[in-house]
Amino acid sequence: MEKKLLLLSILCALILALLMGVIYKYLMNQEYLKEQNNFEEQVEKIIESELLEQDKNQIDQSKRGDNQYNKYYMFHSKTENKNTINELEAQTKAASQQMKGFRSIIISYVDEEKVNDTIVNRNLVTKKYIWDKKAKSFNYSGKVIELSEILLYKNRNEPRLKDIINDEADFLAIKRIVQEQVLNIHASSKYTLDDEEINYVLANDFLTNNSKITIYPNTLEVFFDKEVFGIKKMSISIEKILPFINPKIVSDKDVLKKELDTSKKYVALTFDDGPNDTSTIKLLEKLKKENIKATFFVLGQMVDRNPEVAKQIVREGHEIGSHSYTHPDLTQLHPKEIKEEVLKTDKAVFHATGVLPKIFRPPYGAINGSVAQIIGLPIIQWNVDSEDWKVSNKELIVNKVVQTVEHGSIILIHDIHEISVDSIPDMVNHLRKNGYEFVTVSELLSYSQKPLNQYFGINDNRKFK
Ligand code: NI
Repeated sequence: MEKKLLLLSILCALILALLMGVIYKYLMNQEYLKEQNNFEEQVEKIIESELLEQDKNQIDQSKRGDNQYNKYYMFHSKTENKNTINELEAQTKAASQQMKGFRSIIISYVDEEKVNDTIVNRNLVTKKYIWDKKAKSFNYSGKVIELSEILLYKNRNEPRLKDIINDEADFLAIKRIVQEQVLNIHASSKYTLDDEEINYVLANDFLTNNSKITIYPNTLEVFFDKEVFGIKKMSISIEKILPFINPKIVSDKDVLKKELDTSKKYVALTFDDGPNDTSTIKLLEKLKKENIKATFFVLGQMVDRNPEVAKQIVREGHEIGSHSYTHPDLTQLHPKEIKEEVLKTDKAVFHATGVLPKIFRPPYGAINGSVAQIIGLPIIQWNVDSEDWKVSNKELIVNKVVQTVEHGSIILIHDIHEISVDSIPDMVNHLRKNGYEFVTVSELLSYSQKPLNQYFGINDNRKFK
C-alpha cells in the first residue's frame, strides 16, 4: 500500500516537472520568437534604409543566403552585367565568411556615383552589421567598396571608342595595340602565324571609332565590329592606352603618366638600318655592359635575314621600330608600295620577336602628311646626327654628338658600321660625364607619341597637316 503511494507521488512529481519543463520551454520559445521577430524587423529596416538612395526600379533581383549566424542579401538589377554580378557575389561571400561567427547581416548592392558631367562610377558596396543582443539592434561595423566599372554619363548604355578619344591619331595608336594583342592571342594558340593571318589582322577594320566599349577601373574592353579568328572582344590595360584616352575615365590616378624625372637630363640613342649578325651583335654586347636601353629602327629585309638578332634586341629590353623593308624614299612611292614596305616589315618583326613596331623612322627622314597617314605610326626623326656614315674616325663621331647634344635629344647612329659601334663606349662616357642618362625613344616621349605626328626630340613635336 505504502509502496503504491510512493510510486504515485513520484509519478506526480515527474509529471509536474515535465509540465514545468514544457511551460518553461514554451515561454523561452516565445522569448526567442520575439527576439527573432525583432531581429528580422531590424533587418528589413536596414535593407530599407540602405536601398533608399537607390533607384528601386533598378533593383529587381536579390539573392540571400546563410553562413552560420550570418545572413547575406545581394541586390542588383535584372539587366546587370554578368561579370558585375559575379564580382558582387564574390565580395559578398567573402564578407559573409568573415562574419560567420557573429550574429550579423551583410548587404551588398551596385551603387552609382556621378563623378562629373562625363563619368559615372559604379561601385560594388558591401556593408556589415553585427547584432547587439542587449540593445536588440544592429551595430554598423564597416563596409567594402570596390570600383567595378565606369560609365559615360551621356552614353551610359553603349559607350563607343570615339567617346573616350580625341582624334584619328588616338584611334590609330589604340588600333596598333589591339592588333598586336590579337596577333599574340592567336599566335599563342598555334605554333606560328602565316603571312596571310598577319595580313588579315593588320589590313582589316574589325576595330573602328564606333566600336562598343566597357570601361573598367584598370582595363578597357573593346567589342570588335566583326570577329577575328573567333575573337569578338578584348581587354586592354588602361595603362597601355593612357596617352590616347580622356584622362577623366581613369579612376586609378596612380597609373596616370609615368613622366621622366624633370631634374635629370635624358637622351635616346637610336640605331638604324640593321640588324646584321656582326656589328649589331657587338653593339648589343656593349650596350649590355653599359646597362643602356636603346632604340633600333630596323629594316624588314635585314630582320628576315637575321631574325635571331632582332629577337635578341627585344629580349635585352631595347625598343624596336620600323625603318621600312628596303629603305626607299617613301615620298617617291605609290601608296600601295608604301603600305607594302610597312606591312612586310611588320610581318618580319612580328615573326622574329612577337612584337609589332609601334614607331616608324622614314628612310632619309623623307616624309609628308599623306605618307604619315598611310604608315599610321608615330614618326620618329632625330635632332642629333652622328654623321657616322661619312667619317672614318670614331673621335669625329663622338665629337659631333657631344657638341650638338642637349636634354631630350634623339641621336641618330647606324649599327651596321663597325666604326659607329666602336665609338659607343667613348660617346657614352662623355655623355654620362655631362650628366646625361639613356632611355628608349618611347621612354623619352613618356609613351605619349602619336601617329600623324613627327618627333625630333623631347620638345620638338610637329603635327602633319
Ligand atoms: Ni636609314
